[in-house]
Amino acid sequence: MTTRRDLMKTMALSAFALPMLSQTGWAAQLSGMNELRNEFDIPSIPSADDPEFWAKIRDQFMLRKDEVFFNTGTMGAMPRVVVARMTEHLHVAASNLAEWDYVADGDMMSGYFPYEGIRTKAAKLMNVKMDELALTENVTMAMSFVCMGLDLAKGDEVITSDQEHPGGCSSWKARQKRDGIIYREIAIPKPAHSPKEVLDIVVNSFTKKTKVLMLSHVISGSGAIMPVKEICAEARSRGIFTVIDGAQALGNIPVDIHDIGCDAYVGCFHKWVLAPSGNGFLYIRKDRVQEISTIIASSQWDNHIDEGFRFTQRGTGSLTLLHGLEAALDFTNEIGQDRILARVKFLGNYLRDELRKLPKVKMFSPSDENMCGGITVYNVDGWTGAKLQDLMWNRDKLRPRASSDIHGLRHSTHIYNSVAEIDRCLRIIREIAI
Ligand SMILES: Cc1ncc(COP(=O)(O)O)c(C=O)c1O
Repeated sequence: MTTRRDLMKTMALSAFALPMLSQTGWAAQLSGMNELRNEFDIPSIPSADDPEFWAKIRDQFMLRKDEVFFNTGTMGAMPRVVVARMTEHLHVAASNLAEWDYVADGDMMSGYFPYEGIRTKAAKLMNVKMDELALTENVTMAMSFVCMGLDLAKGDEVITSDQEHPGGCSSWKARQKRDGIIYREIAIPKPAHSPKEVLDIVVNSFTKKTKVLMLSHVISGSGAIMPVKEICAEARSRGIFTVIDGAQALGNIPVDIHDIGCDAYVGCFHKWVLAPSGNGFLYIRKDRVQEISTIIASSQWDNHIDEGFRFTQRGTGSLTLLHGLEAALDFTNEIGQDRILARVKFLGNYLRDELRKLPKVKMFSPSDENMCGGITVYNVDGWTGAKLQDLMWNRDKLRPRASSDIHGLRHSTHIYNSVAEIDRCLRIIREIAI
């Protein structure tokens, strides 16, 4: 038993060797630190556009070298260390099961234990407390916990946008059918032009009946970053419960949930945090959490000391997935979340800048670059998303995702991508868009 645990700990600590970066802030602060380092003749921290550093990071992934993956918005690619940690756990679980005494801890299966260590690491990435955070299977499940657990009566209004993912909005539609609540979608421009434009549209849609606002932090079909902090402040002043769908946010853009000030925030680690599929999360604000009743119940159903555990506990699940999650969180911390976010933004910005120069390209990501991160959505006159997706793959094994006939392609750029890979896409787009 001890040997196996020691092995797991060793694997957790030595994910891979990289110089550590203390948490410094956003991209500008990184370059500020580098200036200071030059002054004292200290080797500089790699910047967002340092190809050698990011080539080494690329080697941490198992993605085939002859294929290029641009669809993190659907599912992130796992680093080697995540796969190694999961494989190791599967072997241990299959072979050493008899050694497990069950009472000591939850070393073999998930679903019954609080996993405080993993929740603490995850909580730090989004600035919440461990006991405010639950681990769920995915975003859909987290959203359903909030929606189905909230006390809403016939005639109560829920407002959301016309660009929400089915996993974010369908539970509210189900309550419309079951309980007669009013479900109302408001139109957000695509492309969005400014945070103020979006804020005004959302706030002007509130009525006396509005009880809930549900909105994506990053819209999946355009990559637009919503001004959620300002929107939540307006909603709060009117007593409206706010739920933010952050499926596309964590690992893509900075996420500080306490600063946003929402009542609930749902998201996942299996896209931009590069964890294995089946890893979502749910945050509910301390002073509102008791309003959300338990809908999947086991022994913790009434735990109001550790509310995050109440929503984490859901019966037997795969602990291998949680090992993978922890490895992905360690990987993020070893590179440094700020450094990852700066790189994601740099690559997205590069792609959009080049696309905007092409006359036949129609951009659906916001015109205000401050509202963009690693997702870029665009079409070329006369093309559909499906045709563009096929063109990219058949010509050069490039894998962005078709968005829709009208909205063309969605391109997610992450740390395993490079300027050279984006240039390969641009070469193809230039041929059809000039
Ligand atoms: C904005 C948004 N919400 C919800 C979901 C659903 O996530 P999950 O499959 O983890 O439930 C997605 C998935 O792409 C999404 O982009």
